[in-house]
Amino acid sequence: MIDEVQEILFDDQAITEKVREIAARISADYAGKELVLICILKGAAVFTADLMRNLTLPITMEFVQAASYGDSTTASKKINVENDRGIDLSGKHALLVDTIIDTGETMACLFNTFAGRGPASLKAVALLDKRSRRTANVSVTYCGFEIPDKFVVGYGMDYKERHRNLPYIAVIKTTR
Ligand code: IMP
Ligand code: MG
Repeated sequence: MIDEVQEILFDDQAITEKVREIAARISADYAGKELVLICILKGAAVFTADLMRNLTLPITMEFVQAASYGDSTTASKKINVENDRGIDLSGKHALLVDTIIDTGETMACLFNTFAGRGPASLKAVALLDKRSRRTANVSVTYCGFEIPDKFVVGYGMDYKERHRNLPYIAVIKTTR
C-alpha cells in the first residue's frame, strides 16, 4: 500500500467479482442485441477494459473525454466534453461507462450530448456511486458499489492525475 493511501475500500478480487456481476446483468439485458460502449476518459479506461471482456455480446467502442474544470478533489459543475463529434448512435444501443458517479453532472451532460443522436437506447453504468453527493437528475441503470462521500483513487481514478494504475480502490489522504 502506498503512503498516500488511507484505506483500501475494494481490492482487486472484490472489483473483479463486481465487474463480472455487472457484466452478467448487461449481457442478459441486451441479449440478441449489439451494444456501443462509450468509455468516458480518462477515468473509465480500466473499468471499460475489464467490463467489455466479461460481456457476452457483440460490442463496439467509442471514447469521449469529459472533465470538470480544475484539479482539486471538488468536482466543479462545469463539464467539458471532447472528442464526441464523430460518434454516430443512430438506431444503436448505447451504454455510457464511467467508474464513479459523484454529483452526476458529468453523466447528465453526456446523456444530453448523446440523446440527440437517435440511439435505440441510451443507458449508463458505473462501478461506484457516491449517491449522497448527487445534484444532477440522472439515472444510472447499472451500479456496482455505493460508497460514502470520500475521495477515492485507483482502478483508473486519479488525484491530480496520479494513482490511476493502482489495482485497488482506496481512500486517499487529502482534504476536499
Ligand atoms: P460528477 O460529475 O460530479 O459525477 O463527477 C464525476 C467525475 O469526477 C468522475 O468521472 C471522476 O473523473 C471524478 N470523480 C468524482 N469523484 C471522484 C473520486 O472520489 N476520485 C476520483 N475521481 C472522482
Ligand atoms: Mg479526475
